[in-house]
Amino acid sequence: MTPLPGAAQLFTLDLAIAHLNHGSFGAVPLVVRQARARMMAAYDANPTKFVSERLIELTAAARDRYAAFVGADPQGCALVTNATAGTAIVLNSIAFAPGDEIVITDHSYNAVMLAVNDVATRLGVNVITAPVDLGSADDATVEAIVSATTERTRLVIVDQVSSATAQRHPVGAIATALRARGIPLLVDAAHSPGMIPAPLSGVDADFWVGNLHKWAFAAGGTALLVVSPAWRDRLRPLVVSHHHHDGFPLNIERQATTDFTVWLAGVEGLTIFRTFGAEAIWQHNVALAAYGQKTVAKALGVPDELLPHPGSEVSMRLVPLPPGTADTYPQASALRTRISDELATEVNVMPFRDRGYLRLSAQIYNTAEDFARLASGLPALLKEAA
Ligand SMILES: Cc1ncc(COP(=O)(O)O)c(C=O)c1O
Repeated sequence: MTPLPGAAQLFTLDLAIAHLNHGSFGAVPLVVRQARARMMAAYDANPTKFVSERLIELTAAARDRYAAFVGADPQGCALVTNATAGTAIVLNSIAFAPGDEIVITDHSYNAVMLAVNDVATRLGVNVITAPVDLGSADDATVEAIVSATTERTRLVIVDQVSSATAQRHPVGAIATALRARGIPLLVDAAHSPGMIPAPLSGVDADFWVGNLHKWAFAAGGTALLVVSPAWRDRLRPLVVSHHHHDGFPLNIERQATTDFTVWLAGVEGLTIFRTFGAEAIWQHNVALAAYGQKTVAKALGVPDELLPHPGSEVSMRLVPLPPGTADTYPQASALRTRISDELATEVNVMPFRDRGYLRLSAQIYNTAEDFARLASGLPALLKEAA
């Protein structure tokens, strides 16, 4: 957990704040911001030339770089703006009939649940929520999800690392079990690129969508949708545009006139993994998140055995909060704001099954002092909030 020298200076974060919420929005490195400014200047100098001569080639090069980074077949990748959009494209591509079923888990991300519920309301699809315990063993997780499927299941969506609970799910084993049953799987890998080494290794899923703007240092609006060969020609874009008949991935990526500079510039963020070494970054973040969890839990008097352990490669950790402080979404949101305002510390606070949890993220710009600040101020704040 030795600090990575100079890491905080690679970003433009306000250093007066302890930023322990990387998992929500990531952080944009200076090199990405500068590359984006250069791309925008090139575009603005001659939009016609940029779009007609350079854009396809530059986008393909960026896509290939991202694909190589996560270990995906480049032929199966399309750039999309975010995991939410990737999920919407998948939902838009499956011919649901009334009475069909979509299986999610009770760890699924709120926006994903809303999108699934919208399909359910419009098309008469039933949503089945498989309960997966906090700290569930891999076998039990696979069983909970597979046993929620039936012959009417048309899609299963599982997080590789969940948002509110920072829990790693065994998506490789889930994919294998579902493939044997002919049921398509979408892996919500919003947190995986840059957090999990080789996140696609051993994962034979139909769809996988990962944000590059969280842990892979791209700017907001950069994600990779990875699609299995059988689905590539069947994928339906959300916006039909000029490249509609050019097939995957151009029919998905090109949506008329949008700002493509964010995708092109984001590859510069990957250079940070070379600067420090990917292994060193992963080890640092995982160790610091575990240290932060222990430090804050100790300050709150939460014993070690009550701390959820998300898996050895996850750099977000939960600390259970006292009952009554963040059991509901409005309470959790109010507490997050107070921690931000009063302790100059950004965290995520979410309820799961009627209990509030603090979610702490660790990234290369964080140090032990960030967690110490939270640990020293939080007990009094919680006492006052109770
Ligand atoms: C598990 C999970 N899925 C999906 C998303 C949505 O990501 P985005 O807002 O970039 O679409 C998030 C964002 O935090 C997430 O944690």
